[in-house]
Amino acid sequence: MNRILAFPRKRNMALAVLLLLGAAWANLPAPAADVAISIQANSPGASINPAMWGVFFEDINFGADGGLYAEMVKNRGFEFPDSMMGWTLISPSLAHGSLEVRTNAPFDPNNSHYVRLQSQGTAPFGLSNEGFRGMGVRKGAAYDFSARFRPVSGVPDVSIQIYGGDGALLDSVKITPTGTGWQKYTAVLHPNDTDGDARLAVLVLNRASVDVDFVSLFPEDTWKHRPGGLRADMVQALADLHPGFMRFPGGCIVEGSVLTRRYQWKNTIGPIEDRHVLINRWNYEFLHRPTPDYFQSFGLGFFEYFQLCEDIGAQPLPVLNCGMACQFNSGELCPMDQLQPYVQDAMDLIEFANGPVTSPWGARRAALGHPQPFNMRLLGVGNEQWGPQYMERYEKFAAAIKASHPEIQLVAAAGPEPADQRFTYAWSKLRALHADIIDEHCYSNPQWFFDNTGRYDHYDRNGPKVFMGEYAAQSVGVVSVKNHNTLECALSEAAYMLGMERNADVVRMASYAPLFANTKAWQWTPDLIWVDSLRVCRTPDYYVQQFFSCNRGDNVLPTSVTGLEQLDPLYASAVKDSASGEIILKVVNPESKPQPVHLHLDGVSRIQPQASEICLSSGDLQGYNTVDHPRAVVPISSVVNLPTPQCDFTFPPQSFTVLRIKPE
Ligand code: AHR
Repeated sequence: MNRILAFPRKRNMALAVLLLLGAAWANLPAPAADVAISIQANSPGASINPAMWGVFFEDINFGADGGLYAEMVKNRGFEFPDSMMGWTLISPSLAHGSLEVRTNAPFDPNNSHYVRLQSQGTAPFGLSNEGFRGMGVRKGAAYDFSARFRPVSGVPDVSIQIYGGDGALLDSVKITPTGTGWQKYTAVLHPNDTDGDARLAVLVLNRASVDVDFVSLFPEDTWKHRPGGLRADMVQALADLHPGFMRFPGGCIVEGSVLTRRYQWKNTIGPIEDRHVLINRWNYEFLHRPTPDYFQSFGLGFFEYFQLCEDIGAQPLPVLNCGMACQFNSGELCPMDQLQPYVQDAMDLIEFANGPVTSPWGARRAALGHPQPFNMRLLGVGNEQWGPQYMERYEKFAAAIKASHPEIQLVAAAGPEPADQRFTYAWSKLRALHADIIDEHCYSNPQWFFDNTGRYDHYDRNGPKVFMGEYAAQSVGVVSVKNHNTLECALSEAAYMLGMERNADVVRMASYAPLFANTKAWQWTPDLIWVDSLRVCRTPDYYVQQFFSCNRGDNVLPTSVTGLEQLDPLYASAVKDSASGEIILKVVNPESKPQPVHLHLDGVSRIQPQASEICLSSGDLQGYNTVDHPRAVVPISSVVNLPTPQCDFTFPPQSFTVLRIKPE
């Protein structure tokens, strides 16, 4: 086992000093290197899981509805408990009319509420939708409107309008519903301006009465141009991470605060109108961040999750409820003698994902347009469970699944903390049960991540493998609203990831959490990617993840750092990339001064003198990106001179650097 020298970090210096030193660094001659990084390039060690660095998606912070799922209308089917949430009556002073929420003879019994608009025709009368805290529209782009209408009296002239945050009309089309029953009507709108705060209005222009339901607006430019699909810019940010796997759909939403509010995958496939709306547990979880308009439409359901994984080349890792509601909430338990339906959901999911089209659930998949299997090989049993109640439920799942699907690797939970009684208990029990993979979670301060880069050096090589399924450095405190995705957090995560990389025989997978946050509707910070209705902001933590997934390598190379001063830590790890033959060296220098280093590539006689470098750094450790200023901390690529396998190199202050070195 290669060891890295890592010492406790010094406290941050004053920003002014940091900036001064950072600026001065560029002009200083590099001091002689007392510190050495030695890489045994001819002794490749543990093989690295090709799917090691992945993503964890949860519908938190408006991550799905109001985020990845590109639907722009909130409460499109009037199915929220407050049927009019998100909607506003439009009734100018000259208008005479009425709006009534009804349930009698809906177009779909699974979607029973709708609105009846009756207008005297004296002025446009109707309603408008605010979207998910404002709709984002782009000048000239096409937006697909659809709704169900049923004329009740007269021949309604209905105007569909998009208008901006300032009230300016951006585009409108007219629809004239006819006949006597419900029908779906569609139209395309092209806003004449870009606006992040737009609204959609449905107005009756004449004397008539009409029923309205399932009002929808999507950009045409969705990911892969799929109608009713996902936000292209957000999926692109995921695709650019080249994630090895995607864990979904949570997180705590899998568990639910009570079992009736748990995530049930079978309710999320098939016609979107039939997918019952469910309150999102993040709607009411944090009293300091209430989000009363947060519901799950399941427009992004399990079929779409599998499709997304396939699109971005990520192995699917669904997580299912194991008969336990969130233990931070009710902790409600499904009695053991009633657990079978939960286990059956898991068995059916495996068939849905992988079964032949001749099987009942494989046929459902084929009917949704995907006869080929999704090749699911990983399945999470419960989210962040702990205690004996979890163990007995996990055992029951494992017995049933392993008996008929030994090809499925099960991911078991180890509780919410990386080192407490719940964690120790889980590990001892799961080790005895020969669990495949154990999911560890950690939200802590940057210091914890720096201090724990050696965490896996002493793990049992023959026990269950580790999945670091949720982790993120918190700049102020766990669930503090003041947390930011600072460079310091990102560097601490990078140092910790180097420890995971060096122990790739034990740590097989890892993912940051949470993934997405809407700037106007978040509950939890920090998050990997921030979005508003038009923009996507990649954080320093995002770039750290990307550095690892794009420079994964195939085998760990034993690497040591020697000659460090007690208070000047430096973190390093190296891997071999067999396709290119390159040695990939990753180094975190968290200190405010440059770190000259003597590099030794043992077992290499010559290297190509030009190495590629990518570096994330900034003079401000507390710096972070925002949607308005997304480039405060971004990586810079360059080509650097490394003349021989034994040479000097200086790592910039407060930086994470990846060097790709090619032996000749
Ligand atoms: O990532 C946010 C939450 O943190 C997840 O839902 C849960 O698993 C953990 O407690």
